[in-house]
Amino acid sequence: MSMVTICIRFRSGEEHVIEVQVGSNLLLEAVQRSIPIPFRCTRGNCGKCLVRITEGLEQTSGITTAEVQKMDPGQIEQGYRLACQTDVFGNVKVDIESS
Ligand code: FES
Repeated sequence: MSMVTICIRFRSGEEHVIEVQVGSNLLLEAVQRSIPIPFRCTRGNCGKCLVRITEGLEQTSGITTAEVQKMDPGQIEQGYRLACQTDVFGNVKVDIESS
């Protein structure tokens, strides 16, 4: 199984670089490594896990119906995703702006 790199940056400057299997879920992988992305439902309902993909958005799974309901079109255009609804298929960079 090939691996991809996820770089997760917090507003504080804290940064985590992790290697995951292709197709892994962004929120799940972060939580398993105790990286504190805020979350609650894990199902696209609460909107808590909002993140911004700053590089590699095209290497992520498509926007889900839940995301369309939780985000406005402007956010979607700017690369925001719900981490629990996002699987990664290539290297990505992620900003956490909510904490
Ligand atoms: S954890 Fe609730 S929307 Fe992702």
